[in-house]
Amino acid sequence: MKAKNLKVNGLTEPIGYSFDHLTFSWETSGEDLDDQSKMTVTVALDPAFKQVVAQADCASGNLLTLAPDFLKNKTRYFWRVQGLTFQASSFFETGLMDDAWQAKWISYQDAPQDAVCFSKKFMANKAVKTARLYLMALGLYEASLNGQAVSLEYLTPGYHSYDLYQQYQTFDVTHLINSENELTVMVGNGWYKGRFLFDGGFENIYGDKQKLIAQLEITYEDGSREVVLSDESWNCQTSFIKENSIYDGERQDLSTRPEPLQTIALTDDRATLTERLDLPVKPVRVYNPRAFIDKNGDLILDFEQEITGWIAGRVETPKKQVKFTFGELLQDGRFYRDNLRTAKQEFIVDNIEQASFIRPHFTYFGFRYVKVEGLSEAEALRFKGYSLQSEMEETFSFASSSAKLNQLLSNVKWSQRDNFLSIPTDCPQRDERLGWTGDIGVFANTASYNMETRAFFANYLRAMRAEQLAQKGAVPVFVPYPKIKPFEGINPFLLGGAVSVWGDAATILPITSYRHCHDQGQLKADYPLMKGWVDYILKKDQAHQNRHLFDFDMQLGDWLALDTGIKGSVMGATDSSLVATVYYWISAQNTADAAAILDYQTDNAFYQKLADEIKAAILTTYFKGDDLNLTPATLNSPTEQIRQQMAQGFAGQKIDTKVDTQTGLALLLHYRLYPSEAAREKLADRLQARLEEAGNSLTTGFAGTPALLHALSENGLDQAAFDLLFKEDAPSWLFEVSQGATTTWERWDSLLSDGRISGTDMNSMNHYAYGSVEDFIVEKLLGINLPELTGDTWKIAPHFTSHLTWAQGKLMTANGPLEVKWVKTGSLVETTVILPPRTKAVFIKQDGSLCQLKSGSNQFSEIFPDNSANAIQDYKETVNE
Ligand code: BGC
Repeated sequence: MKAKNLKVNGLTEPIGYSFDHLTFSWETSGEDLDDQSKMTVTVALDPAFKQVVAQADCASGNLLTLAPDFLKNKTRYFWRVQGLTFQASSFFETGLMDDAWQAKWISYQDAPQDAVCFSKKFMANKAVKTARLYLMALGLYEASLNGQAVSLEYLTPGYHSYDLYQQYQTFDVTHLINSENELTVMVGNGWYKGRFLFDGGFENIYGDKQKLIAQLEITYEDGSREVVLSDESWNCQTSFIKENSIYDGERQDLSTRPEPLQTIALTDDRATLTERLDLPVKPVRVYNPRAFIDKNGDLILDFEQEITGWIAGRVETPKKQVKFTFGELLQDGRFYRDNLRTAKQEFIVDNIEQASFIRPHFTYFGFRYVKVEGLSEAEALRFKGYSLQSEMEETFSFASSSAKLNQLLSNVKWSQRDNFLSIPTDCPQRDERLGWTGDIGVFANTASYNMETRAFFANYLRAMRAEQLAQKGAVPVFVPYPKIKPFEGINPFLLGGAVSVWGDAATILPITSYRHCHDQGQLKADYPLMKGWVDYILKKDQAHQNRHLFDFDMQLGDWLALDTGIKGSVMGATDSSLVATVYYWISAQNTADAAAILDYQTDNAFYQKLADEIKAAILTTYFKGDDLNLTPATLNSPTEQIRQQMAQGFAGQKIDTKVDTQTGLALLLHYRLYPSEAAREKLADRLQARLEEAGNSLTTGFAGTPALLHALSENGLDQAAFDLLFKEDAPSWLFEVSQGATTTWERWDSLLSDGRISGTDMNSMNHYAYGSVEDFIVEKLLGINLPELTGDTWKIAPHFTSHLTWAQGKLMTANGPLEVKWVKTGSLVETTVILPPRTKAVFIKQDGSLCQLKSGSNQFSEIFPDNSANAIQDYKETVNE
């Protein structure tokens, strides 16, 4: 057996990260498939493992959490995992930790600039053993030492709640030090200053001048040390980057002769500086475009895939101006960008005096098409597209006999790649790009199949917790949460509102992350956030007679559902109190489960009781006997009144409010919130009826969509679920694919059947929420089901469909790849499950019988099911009997 892919807290060889826990993980592979020998993790101060500081045996799984109490600052730790027949080692390194910063924050005296360049010259005359640069700047920075970038990361220090803490980076710059040196740090606006935040944009949310703090520590071979600290002696000057903005892009003037600015040292607090958790943002993929002239006569580059990032290339001859404008779409054969709202998404370079390699520095774009001005087609084709994203391992691949389904899965993965940039964003192109909590909450499970999200979520959850503490328990609708002073007419979303589904990301992300990687250290770190959110709602609930109904605040409900019948409506028809109360239950249950895993027995009892009481409140409010109560009291609740006011604002009219919508029914069914088996059947009947009424189409929004296909499939309605999945006319997932989408859309009708855009006020082609359907494909179509939260046994239970002749998927697990493939031949279906070593799993046949799976290849042959309408009728009759 072998171990590889060694990680600490989901990170490979991390340097200078925050280690509030230490979870060591690794992947195993090898011939002796069932080697069950114990594995031991050893941590030492030296690569020969002579000075051991910690050691423990791994009880189960390829992962072990240790308390970090032995960690000392600025120290490299070597760690290894050993089994009977193998060993593998890696390292991690701490940052400054409790060592007080010696460097000072610096800025400049002069008028605010869009970008500035700080620099410092220093000598290093002896042989260098190690050199570490501890660095943080506000807004975005790019640092180089002697002309060489200190890392391959871009858009550092990423986006986080700059007003609450500042995460600095640590770079190993040993190899870059010469005897004469110059450290240069260019700093632009980024998320820190300049225009940001939707609804017109706000200026300088966190500050109006760039700041920097840098501490370079050199250790020489002779043991002596030297430090280079940011202070007023640093040089500061203007930059060739004249304008830069997350939304608007960047403008450079290459003829600029830098002018000196006056550096000042600040007395700013350094106590809120903290080690990073954010993942490096890197250009993960490179694309070559094709070029064409559109119907306006403009030169357009088409990257044939919507990506997030930028373009870069060489301009060989002098040019007065080169301009690139970025967009997602063509309309009528013309470059189009009206759906970006106020975001300009431009990259302009003036006065190119000699051959130059050009690229943006402090912005990014969401785009497939680029309009090019100032270059010939041949010159434009020298540019490549770079897709920037937080660096994460991809862990799932899929293929099937349906090219369209395969494209859908590609689109889902791309919307994830495109929106996993420092934080999980709603979209990468228009004047928004915010960490909307609801979007990632509903997408988290799918995201965690596609990639190893653990460290990415850990970083985002730290920001969420910091915002929660700043907001007395509330979890804002987006994180980070820039604080805007209230003024008349301000958009309510900018005022700290905590709403259901969105705020519930506080419990959904931690528990999802745990379900996928079983990292107790991380769960423990996230637990206060989970508990804090449930306590926050509970407190409000208690102030409203403790009825355990979440029916008294503003809610977004089933965002973007189609069932109000109002064109372009953002609000769905489902009773928002029902949605909110179901999610209240979900969060209470998630918290009870987390408490059980962490062995917090009192909390477990408390939150389990709360979850049970919320469930009881749902049953008494929303059911009459075994049937749904179509007129629950919540239809007259404060939430409903606010909802109608919102409807006036959004749609200028009253909207219908119902409980027996596709979303209402799917939520109750999927989460098993019904009083009896008879009630379950009635809910399933109603759900089928709602689908039929809608012309066998879905009408669900953000809240209902993730549950819809699961709810159908879990209640004997596989055929209906698969018909929705494979439906090609609007609204459906494959409609987007048929329209040539390369990412998933924000709205079911982002484009209409004639290919025209349905509206421009809130319409992105790159939102991941509806991509949440992928977890149905993993869990039902392929039947790959993770072990229960406290269990260790995988369940493999594929659901076959006549829409396909074969399907296969491969999921990376801690023990190596787990593969499922099914192929239909005539009336038989053959399933192959390849199980990695040290993995417990059962196969569940269609008749419900269980078979233990062994490591390696397992084959099953079954009769292909008849899921036709008649079969469903038969099924219902059997169930009814
Ligand atoms: C965002 C969403 C978000 C929603 C909530 C939109 O503007 O793009 O994805 O969740 O607002 O109101």
